[in-house]
Amino acid sequence: MANNHEHKVDHLDQPFYGPPVLPPVEPPSAAAARRRCVADPHALCCRAIHVLTIVVIAVGVVALVLWLVSLPNALKAYVDSAELTRFELGGSDGAKRGQLLRYNLTVAVSIRNPNRDQAVLYRRLEAVVLYGGERFGYVDFPRTRQGRKSTMVIRPSFVGQGVLAGAAAFGREKEEGFFNINVKLHMRVRLKVMVFVDSVEYRPDVDCYIRVPDPSNATAVAMGFTATRCRVDDFM
Ligand SMILES: *[C@@H]1O[C@H](CO)[C@@H](O)[C@H](O)[C@H]1NC(C)=O
Ligand SMILES: *[C@@H]1O[C@H](CO)[C@@H](O)[C@H](O)[C@H]1NC(C)=O
Repeated sequence: MANNHEHKVDHLDQPFYGPPVLPPVEPPSAAAARRRCVADPHALCCRAIHVLTIVVIAVGVVALVLWLVSLPNALKAYVDSAELTRFELGGSDGAKRGQLLRYNLTVAVSIRNPNRDQAVLYRRLEAVVLYGGERFGYVDFPRTRQGRKSTMVIRPSFVGQGVLAGAAAFGREKEEGFFNINVKLHMRVRLKVMVFVDSVEYRPDVDCYIRVPDPSNATAVAMGFTATRCRVDDFM
């Protein structure tokens, strides 16, 4: 009995918590917009154009990425000729840290762009010359552009004097009549991919090991210089 009574009291005492909860009502503007989108043919058309634009941009981006991924062929380079009129080691530069090298070397380097679709834009082109791994001269070339499937020839002239610390091979090579000289090209290039699109910047190095006759050795000079192919980095 007591239990039953308590229950009743509980029930009667239960507070009233307001009206039942209704599903949330959308703000009138959003609802209206959605109705317009579904019903209004102009809005539908608008939406179609929107989707189409996104598809076209996506296809364009994919095409561009595929184009860039299919990397172009590396340049080819040759030393066609070399004219060495002076290559003398000796004498003192006063500092006694090495031997003085007096040099006068001109080389003709032909650079071939084998690509049918890309021109090459040279943002930096520098030729350096080394003997026994020691750099003794360099020449900077101005910015230039090389067309598709074309060859250009540069003729760096290295003239002057410098101190070599090592030059251990000089005596032996003078006896042989030929000096092993290393000409390198350092470059920063971009490829013209499309009219308004350039590739990323590449820094391929060109490495040429040439054997040049000693100008004071008539026999060697008569034997002459042999055109030499250079090693060239890929566009990576
Ligand atoms: C260097 O050699 C070239 C020929 O290759 C010559 O015309 C030029 O006068 C020489 N320069 C010097 C400073 O000896
Ligand atoms: C000159 O060069 C020739 C051919 O390379 C070589 O055999 C000769 O020893 C050289 N002569 C001298 C005087 O160094």
